[in-house]
Amino acid sequence: MIYINKLSDHVDAKVTLKGWVYNIRTSKALAFIELRDGTGITQCIVAQDDVDTSVWEAANALKQESSLEITGTVKADERSVGGHEIHVSDLKIVQIAEDYPITPKEHGVEFLMNNRHLWLRSQKQWAAMRVRNEIIFAIHSFFQERNFVQMDSPIFTSNAAEGSTTLFETDYFDEKAYLAQTGQLYGEAMAMAHGLIYTFGPTFRAEKSKTRRHLTEFWMIEPEMAYYDLDMNMDLAEDMIRFIVQRVVDKRRNELEILERDISKLEKVADNSFKRITYSEAVEILKSDATAEMLDKMMADRKEEEKALKQEREEIKKEHGSAKKWRKKQIEARQIEISARLDQIEEDYRNIPKWKESAQNFEWGNDFGGSDETVLMMQQEVPMMVHRWPAEIKAFYMKRDPEDERLVLGVDVLAPEGYGEIIGGSQREDDLEFLQNHIEKHDLPMDVFGWYLDLRKYGSVPHSGFGLGLERTVAWLCGLSHVRETIPFPRMMGRLRP
Ligand code: 4AD
Ligand code: MG
Repeated sequence: MIYINKLSDHVDAKVTLKGWVYNIRTSKALAFIELRDGTGITQCIVAQDDVDTSVWEAANALKQESSLEITGTVKADERSVGGHEIHVSDLKIVQIAEDYPITPKEHGVEFLMNNRHLWLRSQKQWAAMRVRNEIIFAIHSFFQERNFVQMDSPIFTSNAAEGSTTLFETDYFDEKAYLAQTGQLYGEAMAMAHGLIYTFGPTFRAEKSKTRRHLTEFWMIEPEMAYYDLDMNMDLAEDMIRFIVQRVVDKRRNELEILERDISKLEKVADNSFKRITYSEAVEILKSDATAEMLDKMMADRKEEEKALKQEREEIKKEHGSAKKWRKKQIEARQIEISARLDQIEEDYRNIPKWKESAQNFEWGNDFGGSDETVLMMQQEVPMMVHRWPAEIKAFYMKRDPEDERLVLGVDVLAPEGYGEIIGGSQREDDLEFLQNHIEKHDLPMDVFGWYLDLRKYGSVPHSGFGLGLERTVAWLCGLSHVRETIPFPRMMGRLRP
């Protein structure tokens, strides 16, 4: 088989491609078929004069998403998508598709989510899944090249690790079991056997929040390292992120372009070291006058932008009536863009004052909400590491800061451009007695943690690790505003199908 992404090896040769109609335009003597085959899209031109009548008729019978085989000559053409065009000599229909529900016009998100099984074929969705695949591969490469052992942690578990409010409970032969919120505790056991390990698996949280950052089923990568302290942990997290970003920029440029991602922003991330600040410093930034002014300015910028967009909308509306067919299409596409952006601006009008209030009134000791993270990261160009958090708001296993006992040696990595938390991690408490006290304080059942406490009895060592959320990483690198488009079939509150 020959695939579209390898057409450059076959210029001027005759090839057969197998795929689906992404789009089709016909005129009196020509049919332009945008063919997709999973690896890409290429334009195929059928000229009535050059083909048998049956081929011409077949081309005219095609509808969006019909499946077919096309034979033709590959021509290099810089103006075409992908840089090639196929001059068709033969065409075989596999199936004429029924009327396809997803058309180039604008659809609502609910409709698209209900048709997720088909939406996956659309170009941006296609591109996002390929970026996801590249990220997965990059993560494995990063850890494997550094002698980490990949481990699979159990999904049925007997205990909570990240707070008992987000547990999915199941019946395990008359015993309660919970879907894993994290593989970390098991990872710690494996790290004591192998030194350097990482998990790569699905994790589950019964998140009752419908936000752009939350899924109920998401994939997490959790490295765990014996003899690593917090600083080494942060160094590793930074190296990993820069490695992933560089890989995606190198290998998925085409997909990033389809997603209209500003690649220069990702290049900056790969090329620069990350800022590291304490939680207390982050609180000061959040409450500062500079932050309030930044939000006021943002509000003013939105007003300007709204004015300009509305004016443009008026102008192209007038032009539409007398425009040529191709220009009409262009105008309609722009109208969709404008209305989407205006909706976004409306939402910003509602949000920005709330963000400002939340930031100004933030009190030391509280956890950052999604909006606080957004505000902190709105004007950052590279990720920021926030370390040394109040113990009260972090998990039981985090090690106390020897220099300030109100704090734990935890770190969150926040992604720039307003994306917020993508990594949570820490140095782990390695003292048996201290850990027992924490477990009691967190109201966790001691009996199910017996095995975990054993790790602090038999050769306890300083150790650290972190968890990277895959979907949040994909959203950030792709520039997507919601995690629902970062996994083939997202699971969220209120969404179990398809
Ligand atoms: O900060 P979290 O809860 O940390 C842990 O689970 C630790 N056990 C990790 C470790 O130290 N080994 O989650 C880690 C990351 C978050 O930063 C976020 O990227 C992602 O997992 N995450 C979610 N992603 C999507 N939907 C959710 N509901 C998520 N909850 C956490
Ligand atoms: Mg966290």
